Amino acid sequence: MLAGKNILLGITGSIAAYKCAFLVRLLVKQGANVKVVMTSAAQQFITPLTLSTLSKNPVLTQYADEEGNWNSHVELGLWADVMLIAPASANTITKLAYGLCDNLLTATYLSARCPVVISPAMDLDMYQHPSTLANIQKLRSIGNLIIPATNGELASGLIGQGRMAEPEDIIAFLEEHLFYPTQDQLKGKKVLITAGPTVEPIDPVRYISNHSTGKMGFALAQQFVRMGAEVTLIKGPTLQQPHINGAIKVIEVGSAAEMFDATTREFTGKDITVMAAAVADYTPADVAEKKIKKDGQTLELALVKTRDILAELGRQKAEGQILVGFALETNDEEAHAQVKLRKKNLDLIVLNSLRDAGAGFGHDTNRITLLDNKGGKKQFELKSKTEVALDIIKAITEQL
Ligand code: CTP
Repeated sequence: MLAGKNILLGITGSIAAYKCAFLVRLLVKQGANVKVVMTSAAQQFITPLTLSTLSKNPVLTQYADEEGNWNSHVELGLWADVMLIAPASANTITKLAYGLCDNLLTATYLSARCPVVISPAMDLDMYQHPSTLANIQKLRSIGNLIIPATNGELASGLIGQGRMAEPEDIIAFLEEHLFYPTQDQLKGKKVLITAGPTVEPIDPVRYISNHSTGKMGFALAQQFVRMGAEVTLIKGPTLQQPHINGAIKVIEVGSAAEMFDATTREFTGKDITVMAAAVADYTPADVAEKKIKKDGQTLELALVKTRDILAELGRQKAEGQILVGFALETNDEEAHAQVKLRKKNLDLIVLNSLRDAGAGFGHDTNRITLLDNKGGKKQFELKSKTEVALDIIKAITEQL
C-alpha cells in the first residue's frame, strides 16, 4: 500500500531515533519514496549518513546546505503524501502545538498540506506531564494523527508509557489510517457536510442552542477533501473554525431554519451527504423584537418544532445519492438509531451514546456504531475524531 507514496520523515532528539534506521529501511522496502528531515538534537542520536544511505536521498537538516543550496520547507511540505514525525520529542511537540518554526522540521510541518502523523517518545514523567498531554491533545484536535507511545522499559530505566511505537506498528498505522481508501478514491465526488449547533433566537440578545462544537463534521470535511472530494460544509456558529487545506466551500448559518434552507438548496447533485450537525428540534414560536425584561418570577417560552432536515433530504434523495445521519442517544441506543435509519430513508447512520465516556459533544474522541440499510452493523473502539471520520468514509465508500 505504501508503494510510490512520498513519505517525509521528521526525526527529533530522542533516544528512540535509533529505531528510524529500521523504519526507513522498512518504508523503502515497501516501495515508498522517503525523505528525511532532522533537528540538530536528532543528529546526536543517529547520523544523517545512516539515514541518507538507507533512504537513498540526501538528509535535510538546515534551511541551506553546505554548498548554499536552499532546502525549501514549502516544496518539501508539498512533496509529501504524509509527514511522519517519529520520534517526536516533548520539545518538538510543544513547538508544533504553538506553531513555532525555528528549524527546518517545524517550518516544514507548518507548510505541509498533507496529513501529519506524530509518534511521541520521551521519558515516563515527561509523557505524563499535564503540559505534554495538553500539547498532544491540541495537536490531535487540529487534525494530526497521534500514535500513542507504548509501555515498557525506558532508556532511563523507569518502566511505563513513553516508548516510541515499533517501526512495524508505525507502518501498519500508516497503511490502516492513511492509504485506505486510496487518496484519490473520491476524486470528483461532490460531498455535502453539516456541522456544529444551530442557535435559535429568543430575543435580540438571547438564544437556545446545544453543546456541539462541530469537531466531528470538521474532521469529516478534512478527510473527504484529502481524498479528492469537492466538499461543501454548512456550519452553525462554533468557537473553533475548521482547519482545512484545499478546496472547500463553507456556508455559515445560524438557526435550524437557515440550515434547512442552505442544506436543501445544496443537496441536489451531491453524491454523498452527511448530516453531522446538532440541529435544534424546537425553536421559539416568536422572537421578541426587544430584549425581554425580567418582570415576572417565571417566564414561559412557547417552542415550535423545527423542520427535520435529514427527513426532508431522505424524501428528496435521488438514485445513487448516499445519505448519512447521526444519532446521539442516551438509552435504547440501537433501537432508536434503527428507527431513524428507516424513517429518514438513510443509507447509513452513525450512532453515538452519551453513556460512553469520551464520546459525543466537545470531545476530541468518539465511539461509534455504524448501522446500514442492509442490516449491517459495525462497532468501533474509542478513537480520535479524525480516525472516526476515516471509519465513516470507509463505510461510505463501500456503499458507493
Ligand atoms: N436532524 C435534522 N434536522 C432536525 C433534527 C435533526 O436534520 N431538525 C438530523 C441530525 O443532523 C442528525 C439526525 O437528524 O443527523 C438525528 O438527530 P437527533 O436529534 O438525534 O434525532 P431526531 O430525529 O431529532 O430524534 P430525537 O431528538 O427524538 O432523538
